Amino acid sequence: MEKKKHWENIYQTKNIDGVSWYQETPYESIELIKKFSITDSDMIIDIGCGKSFLADNLLKLNYKNITLVDISLNALKEVKDRLNNKSLNFIESDVLNLKLEQTFDIWHDRAVFHFITNKKSIEKYISLCNEYIGVGGKLIIGTFAEDGPLKCSGLEIKRYSTENLKDLFKENFEFIEGFRKLHCTPFDTQQSFTFCVFRKVSSR
Ligand SMILES: C[S@@+](CC[C@H](N)C(=O)[O-])C[C@H]1O[C@@H](n2cnc3c(N)ncnc32)[C@H](O)[C@@H]1O
Repeated sequence: MEKKKHWENIYQTKNIDGVSWYQETPYESIELIKKFSITDSDMIIDIGCGKSFLADNLLKLNYKNITLVDISLNALKEVKDRLNNKSLNFIESDVLNLKLEQTFDIWHDRAVFHFITNKKSIEKYISLCNEYIGVGGKLIIGTFAEDGPLKCSGLEIKRYSTENLKDLFKENFEFIEGFRKLHCTPFDTQQSFTFCVFRKVSSR
């Protein structure tokens, strides 16, 4: 509950471009989804979508099956009102409590996984990726890099290199690509991110 309160408060009190993670265009996410989706009917899930413009861009690219998950109803409501589009599915949930009815072709997470800091919850997140990404599906994940910030939005985070992420997901996911990217915040500072793409190869 504390987590939810925190995020609802952030979205109630800050402008859309008043948060460090704001992007006018989520360029890396769009390019990776374009590169690794198979058709525009792919089932795409965005974990911790916030008020991001990713869904707007995916709709423009004609993607038809987009599920947006966030712990904050406030964030989901803003995207819902902004886009008013029936092909979007909204789920208000802590990712760690997700119960989905189908598997996905693309699981996208920018700047959410790094807030999960305890071992048991990290294992739970990985098991959810394993359960809800179909074999052959892609996991596209962006976290703070090893030289990234130590906190975000006042919360502790965990930083990851490509090697760290490879190691975490190695049991059921094959590494496809990874890179570091500097994100320019609206406050003219920079944050170092690691982006990785994995393919689900088995469900042990
Ligand atoms: C740093 S923001 C990133 C938002 C968006 N992905 C982007 O790139 O603009 C983190 C988002 O994750 C959501 N979030 C944080 N913890 C979460 C959790 N355990 N389950 C679901 N959403 C969560 C927050 O409400 C917030 O919208």
